Amino acid sequence: MARESWNTRVGFILAAVGSAVGLGNIWRFPWMTAENGGSAFLLVYLLIIVAVGVPGLLGEFVIGRRANRNPVGALASLSGSKRWGYVGLITVVTALSLLSFYSVVGGWIIRYFLGSFTGAYFAQPGAYFEAINFGWEAAGFHVLFLAITGTIVYAGVRRGIEIATKVMMPSIVVLLVGLAAWAVTQPGAGAGLDFYLAFEMAPLRENFFDILLAAAGQALFTLSVGAGTMITYASYIGEDRSLAADGVAIGVTNTFVGVLAGLVVFPLLFAQGIEVGAGGPGALFVSIAGAFSALPGGVILSVGFFGVVTLAALSSSISMLEIPVSYLVDEFGFSRAKATGGLVLVYLVTGTYVALTPGVFDFVAGTLVDLLLTGGLLAFLLFVGWVLGQTAIEEFEMGAGAISRSISHPWLYAVGVVLPLFLLFTLLTGILGVFEVSIDTTWTLVATAILGLVAFVGLRHPESAI
Ligand code: PFF
Repeated sequence: MARESWNTRVGFILAAVGSAVGLGNIWRFPWMTAENGGSAFLLVYLLIIVAVGVPGLLGEFVIGRRANRNPVGALASLSGSKRWGYVGLITVVTALSLLSFYSVVGGWIIRYFLGSFTGAYFAQPGAYFEAINFGWEAAGFHVLFLAITGTIVYAGVRRGIEIATKVMMPSIVVLLVGLAAWAVTQPGAGAGLDFYLAFEMAPLRENFFDILLAAAGQALFTLSVGAGTMITYASYIGEDRSLAADGVAIGVTNTFVGVLAGLVVFPLLFAQGIEVGAGGPGALFVSIAGAFSALPGGVILSVGFFGVVTLAALSSSISMLEIPVSYLVDEFGFSRAKATGGLVLVYLVTGTYVALTPGVFDFVAGTLVDLLLTGGLLAFLLFVGWVLGQTAIEEFEMGAGAISRSISHPWLYAVGVVLPLFLLFTLLTGILGVFEVSIDTTWTLVATAILGLVAFVGLRHPESAI
């Protein structure tokens, strides 16, 4: 069967931007920033986006465009070894974890969208969020969000969503800029700006490793990197496109939206006297609801805002569902309908469980996803550096301009050696943290070096370009 492909350059960019820009920017980013020391987190996060996220995104593009397959099939076919296919299976676990909680948050967004028409949450933002966030009703809205996602993927009407992305992106930016301009003028907002932007060393000194894991996880999450989504999407790009140029464009646009969301949320939280770290996953909802209730035209604004955020959430959730669907279709010959239907049933159960159990939600949406994306990207980059090697350079340079071509070798070295060591260290620290084992940093560094060396030696073969 012929694979679908993007008809236009814009089609691919829109789909990839649609996947990247989502609840990760608008909801998860303020939550993670609030929980991990504000400005210190922001700085580490931005550094990781530039140094790890964008080069990693290009790694996924290279694999996807070369293989023309889903992540599992891509690793297996390019390496000619089933074993890499098993490594690729991690993306199926990641996809399952991702949409199980994302769909619950998507349900909250739909609920707020509907509630905006009547101003249901205006009067008591905090109490409202507490009342609706977990439980059977939350599960009901999760099912609604999931059903919409499933329908889009099943009916193959993704193009509709991509076109909607064209309208959505500028609308999100305009709404966020407007809200931020208003938020920063509120009494008490200055403390929020300080928390967010005035760099403080203290949190870094106290909690460096927690911040590192959270910032790395968030950077990958927001770019949709480490889950194989971008492998799947890039499998549809033509050879005449510059992967580097597209990757940078996606990285910049996406980061801009996240940083803007912070400029809305933090001034508002402080202006309303809400304890910033205590907001948890509700930070966005509570802060912004307060703004809409105070603003003239609050109903129209909030309908517009949550409407656009619903679109942003859907263009990301379809990309999450696309990973396991393309896996089942490519590798097992399932029809699209069967694959989508079966998976929706699985998510129905897993998402409902998450919607009923706040502790599980926090773990899955936070630490678990951070670890899975970090581990996933580690595997992809080792693959690019040590299995594809020279082929990765060829693919990287295909369709690229002079500037991009000049960085192909340093890029390969970075994604093959430097970034895997960084990701390995972050992963080890994170796993030790989950099991509450406290091992000296020096030992974690030693373990990283040893494991890194073992991986490099084990993967080395004559065609490795490194
Ligand atoms: N990047 C999306 C967001 O910021 O909402 C979330 C996401 C989509 C993560 C797809 C991972 C993924 F594979």
